[in-house]
Amino acid sequence: MARIVYLNGEWLEESKAQVSVFDRGFLFADAIYEVTAVIGGKLIDYAGHAARLKRSLGSLGIPMPVEEEALLSLHREILTRNGMTDGLIYLQVTRGAEDRDFLFSADLQPTFVMFTQAKSVLDNPRWKTGISVVSRPDGRWANRHIKTVQLLYSTLAKMEAKKAGADDVFLVEDGLVTEASSANAHIVTKDGVLVTRALSNALLHGITRGSILDLAARAGLAVEERSFSIEEAKAAAEVFITSASAFVMPVISIDGVTIGSGAPGPVSQKLLQIYIEERLATAI
Ligand code: PDD
Repeated sequence: MARIVYLNGEWLEESKAQVSVFDRGFLFADAIYEVTAVIGGKLIDYAGHAARLKRSLGSLGIPMPVEEEALLSLHREILTRNGMTDGLIYLQVTRGAEDRDFLFSADLQPTFVMFTQAKSVLDNPRWKTGISVVSRPDGRWANRHIKTVQLLYSTLAKMEAKKAGADDVFLVEDGLVTEASSANAHIVTKDGVLVTRALSNALLHGITRGSILDLAARAGLAVEERSFSIEEAKAAAEVFITSASAFVMPVISIDGVTIGSGAPGPVSQKLLQIYIEERLATAI
């Protein structure tokens, strides 16, 4: 069944939703995006995604395409229009369309697109097996805290990881892990400390990352926000990644080196369980 897509104030069948070839999102990757999970018709961690959307747009000087209240209504309406109860809502805002020029006009109307991807977010078979990653130099741009659509390097690195027989990639800068291709990276040391890179321009400020740190601290887990090396990750008791689509995904091998017992560890599994319980309870 064709999806109903939201485009600049209109609800359109997916094949009818078209964006100009002069759109700066297309020509310059001058755009930002968000991905929000939906379970049982409810939005997971919505407040965080809405706040980051505002932040990312502010960083690029793109105006908010709709008011905050209208944004929530659109999230609800796209679910009803598509009869979707479980899956992801993807939204993208570009600076807008005008004749190609590195300089852009101040009064450009942003392009605003939303679409749904139906899938059972809670039925993820990889949570039981964990995933493998390979490490690669982080060749992305210098402002990774803004959720821009400049994903070329990330997609190429993930494609290469797949070719090498792994599921994802750990991006490394100066020997230190920044992130996975589209998720934040975390380790649990042999002393049971959850270590995750501190926030900076080097990484996306993951909404799931923030939630997990909060829930971990509340569950009595020691948490340290600092960088860790790829070597430290390989020697850790557990490694996992977090994102709005995979929640908490255990990593069981890095560059062919087995992590811990080679199976999803107790801390990752516990955090996944707590995240699902807590965030379903606060889903809107
Ligand atoms: N990606 N780091 C990067 C580079 C990401 O692209 C993402 C999310 C994250 C995790 O952020 P959050 O917890 O807010 O989803 C970290 C989304 C899911 C995507 O591109 O599909």
